[in-house]
Amino acid sequence: MSEPAAVLEPDPAGARGTLPRLLTGVRADGGPLSLDLHLRLHGSLAMVSRAGLIELVAASGLRGRGGAAFPTARKLEAVAAGRGRPVVVANGTEGEPASDKDKALLRWVPHLVLDGVSLAAAAVGAAEAIVVIGEGSRNERAVMEQALAERDARAPDRDVRISLAAAPDRFVAGEETALINFLNGGPAKPLFVPPRPFERGVGGAPTLVQNVETLAHLALIARYGAEWFRELGSDDEPGSALVTLSGGVRRPGVYEVGLGAAFRDIVIGAGGLSEPATALLVGGYFGGWIEARSALELSLLDADLAPHGIGLGARAVAVLPQGACGVVETARVARYLANESAGQCGPCVNGLDAIATSLERIAAGRADRSPEQILRWTSQVLGRGACKHPDGAVRFVESGLQVFSREFELHGHGRRCSGDGRTVLPVEVSR
Ligand SMILES: Cc1cc2nc3c(=O)[nH]c(=O)nc-3n(C[C@H](O)[C@H](O)[C@H](O)COP(=O)(O)O)c2cc1C
Ligand code: SF4
Repeated sequence: MSEPAAVLEPDPAGARGTLPRLLTGVRADGGPLSLDLHLRLHGSLAMVSRAGLIELVAASGLRGRGGAAFPTARKLEAVAAGRGRPVVVANGTEGEPASDKDKALLRWVPHLVLDGVSLAAAAVGAAEAIVVIGEGSRNERAVMEQALAERDARAPDRDVRISLAAAPDRFVAGEETALINFLNGGPAKPLFVPPRPFERGVGGAPTLVQNVETLAHLALIARYGAEWFRELGSDDEPGSALVTLSGGVRRPGVYEVGLGAAFRDIVIGAGGLSEPATALLVGGYFGGWIEARSALELSLLDADLAPHGIGLGARAVAVLPQGACGVVETARVARYLANESAGQCGPCVNGLDAIATSLERIAAGRADRSPEQILRWTSQVLGRGACKHPDGAVRFVESGLQVFSREFELHGHGRRCSGDGRTVLPVEVSR
């Protein structure tokens, strides 16, 4: 995903607040915002007491932007109450191929992320923070190195030592226990919890793992307040969020929108559909397919998607154009997710591989299993892994079997569907 970022204008019907927030000052053709420009746009950080900061985050209602939407204040409280000097880990690994929003933040507004890191460290009483970036994100790493050097030259932060680390570019590496395992010198594979990171993480210390977008919001909340943050979004899901839009839209890229924005308006903000759409993949590869007409009427809220059994995850949205085949795309992503299993739990390793193989055979017109048999397998895999990887993968597969049931039937009988042979979703199958 290397499309330029763009910024949506506020939705006049729904939004009270104004946009952009995170992407203030970002130009699609520009480079990272320097420390000078960052401070001119947002001003310096005011000093807030530790308890005051956590109270402010609680009042803002900020939820994590890394996928699970966990209330940030509760995590800060738990880490602050832990035994020993905590460590902060800023999760910028973004292993999800359909998402580019964390990389966009790192390469365009590095100081907003670093402000958030410093604030989170202050809130939990940490003296050490590590920003973790994917190995392949060399540009983002160079930008962050430069940003840290700018800050050191201006006024070295003596309270918090911030370093950078590069994690393997694997889907599962961004899972919080995998990150901790890796930072402790092990493989980037999930650990069997407990202890949870807030109890014992990096070097055995209580560890706060927070997505880089969450931290960037924290930097704005500390400046502009909880009420300002709540001017966008709903009571339970307040604020703005970054959405990575790909597939059949005229201007794919990373957009900042108010939570609660209608998918229809998000697509219009990206120049509209490039051709009629069949379905939307909402929530990335841990999300699910929704038939296009229904999806465009929904809004960007977990509450709106819950009845579809889908979460917004890291808010990657892909539009499936009419000429692409939902069966082929479902099989491609299922194979990717099966190959990204960390190889530790039987149902995840064997179950996802068997499901992906059967889907691939159906996609190729050589079915050896019916969709009903595959659904039986998905129910056997659900909840059987040490981490949520298999759960996310089977939810995705189940949504594909449901939304593309007609196409699955055609493929199952070796007949042609309406697909013209192209593929749309970004999938890098490794191994
Ligand atoms: C398989 C898997 C992959 C994940 N990948 C990422 C990732 O790339 N980036 C991320 O921030 N969170 C990722 N997460 C979620 C993290 O475990 C963790 O919840 C998150 O970093 C916490 O930050 P937040 O509360 O600010 O969202 C992943 C979770 C799972 C189960
Ligand atoms: S469930 Fe899968 S990805 Fe998660 S730890 Fe087990 S084998 Fe690894």
